[in-house]
Amino acid sequence: MHRKFSALLILVLGVAFAASANPASVSSPDGKLTVLLEAGPEGAFYSIERDGQPVIAPSRLGFEFRTQAPFADDLEIKSVTASSSDETWEQPWGERQFIRNHYNEMRATVAEAAGHGRSVTVVFRLYDDGVGFRYEGDFGKAEIMDELTEISVTEAATAWWIPSREFNRYEYIYNETPLSEVTIAHTPMTFRIQSGLHVSLHEAALVDYSGMSLLRTEGQTFKADLSPWADGAKVKLSGAFKTPWRTLQITEAATGLLDSNLILNLNEPNKLGDVSWVEPGKYVGIWWGMHLAINTWGSGPKHGATTEETMKYLDFASKYGFKGVLVEGWNIGWDGDWFNNWNLMNFTEAYPDFDFPKLAAYAKERGVRIIGHHETSGGVTNYENQLEEAFDLYEEMGVRQVKTGYVADAGEIAREEGGKVFYEWHDGQWMSRHHEKVLIEAAKRKISINSHEPIKDTGLRRTYPNWISREGARGQEFNAWGTPPNPPSHTAIIPFTRMLAGPMDFTPGIFDLLYEKEQPDNRVQTTLTKQLALYVVLYSPIQMAADLPKNYEARMDAFQFIRDVPTDWSESKALTGDIGKHATFARKERGGDDWFLGSVTNEDARTLEVSLDFLDAGRAYEAQIYRDGDDADWDTNPYAMVIEKKRVTAAGSLKLPMAAGGGIAIRFKAL
Ligand code: NOJ
Ligand code: CA
Repeated sequence: MHRKFSALLILVLGVAFAASANPASVSSPDGKLTVLLEAGPEGAFYSIERDGQPVIAPSRLGFEFRTQAPFADDLEIKSVTASSSDETWEQPWGERQFIRNHYNEMRATVAEAAGHGRSVTVVFRLYDDGVGFRYEGDFGKAEIMDELTEISVTEAATAWWIPSREFNRYEYIYNETPLSEVTIAHTPMTFRIQSGLHVSLHEAALVDYSGMSLLRTEGQTFKADLSPWADGAKVKLSGAFKTPWRTLQITEAATGLLDSNLILNLNEPNKLGDVSWVEPGKYVGIWWGMHLAINTWGSGPKHGATTEETMKYLDFASKYGFKGVLVEGWNIGWDGDWFNNWNLMNFTEAYPDFDFPKLAAYAKERGVRIIGHHETSGGVTNYENQLEEAFDLYEEMGVRQVKTGYVADAGEIAREEGGKVFYEWHDGQWMSRHHEKVLIEAAKRKISINSHEPIKDTGLRRTYPNWISREGARGQEFNAWGTPPNPPSHTAIIPFTRMLAGPMDFTPGIFDLLYEKEQPDNRVQTTLTKQLALYVVLYSPIQMAADLPKNYEARMDAFQFIRDVPTDWSESKALTGDIGKHATFARKERGGDDWFLGSVTNEDARTLEVSLDFLDAGRAYEAQIYRDGDDADWDTNPYAMVIEKKRVTAAGSLKLPMAAGGGIAIRFKAL
């Protein structure tokens, strides 16, 4: 009933008070998207139209507090200012070097019509490919008990989403359901409305605030559901604040989402100054052996992180051109069920069979860096208490990248205060502060962070370019022990959902897909070629070659692609995309002339047909094609691969088969 009233209000006021500020409106640079903002006795509502058609029906704005009255009803638009911006900025590393930031902005101050005299400014930024809006205000020292922001979708849609509030992180198989059947979802949540438009809901610049899940309240109306502190407050404010941007990427084609820079554009520029020390690149590591249960993180006869084993990995890395060797389980604290060891992890003391100074020297001689590891097991106060010494040690050992971990299977994130333990969400305000603290301490020592079980990515790599990657979805590890492992469609869904948030440390490149002896109940549900394709499809400035060295040495032909593929790009273009079915990217090497192509399919075989017009005109290339063999199939024949070479130019095209659960990987070597 309420929404009907609001819709009517737009119509009536739109005609009667066209020249006034209620409703206030702003359109995207191409004029296609329009936001309308209205305020009145019922509260403040925004709506979004595309080409004059409603996409988001009038949806509420506002807050509830612990002690103050709600900021929700009896509101008026006090003032409106408009501006435009069109600038191009450069990424220190990324999927593309230059990014255009072109938007129209409306700042509307919404005030209480009577009573408390409070106000907030709602800032809308309209891009050709979507909308971001945030609140700016000052409620003094206050606790937000609820953010009332709604997103009410007009048309029926199919959604791809993972549940929130069930388990304390993001590692789920995606659901594909009608939008009207979503319960509570993490963002990015992506949907395709019946008329074909693609929309992804997320947030940008999550700083000192709680992460937002989307709770479906009725029909296709969603409400912000902020992760609460242990004491129930959603956000603790102490004066002036800005919420993260609530974002709606809205594009005709699914590939439009893949090419969107909206999330990055809504973040603040680099705060760290010179970040030439942030090093994209490929790595190997003492890792998969633990997931296959060949090794252990903790001490004992199967301990993985020994001096001897690490030396072997350092040799392998230097022989094949990898920049880093990740070492997990070198530090004391892993013994027993390590995921319960939240207050036992010691970040500076090595197990006796790990000679860190010797290995640091060995790595240096070989031009390789050890990649550090901080698994907190959810004991975040325990970690913060050791943070400075932990990073000091790594700095001393020449480490430039640290993988962090927040498994917390024993409960939730443990925050200790005054001798008591409080359990916090991975994406609550306290954790958003924690991650910023870690980035700053790391940056002081020229260290980059790759967080696992992280807070979700909201584009903060623009502000802190040392936040080099993160996990935050089901990665390769689930193929070792997950029940069930990742289905073939998984990597055809995450480009359109999780990956819209930013880089993912998925850790591709498993060559022994079956490991029948080690984990007989599981396997990787892809072809071998698809493992190669993931290096291009799933963007990350750091990419692991995740398998055991011996499995690469057994397939040197396919391994060549991993050796050749870069992780830093000057350009990226999505060539094909259909959520859950397929995705294809072409990317050009940063500082080089070669192009690369990666394509993945779900459980269905299909033919990829693409024009090569992305290649530089007037240049010839040798296409080094890695494709599924004609009789390949992820289930019955995953290793069949054809490697062929062809001379091509931008005037040409390619038509290649992909097997069920398969993919394609191509290097276009500039001639
Ligand atoms: C989960 C991480 O995702 C995985 O990569 C890591 O090996 C384990 N935690 C142990 O830290
Ligand atoms: Ca994980």
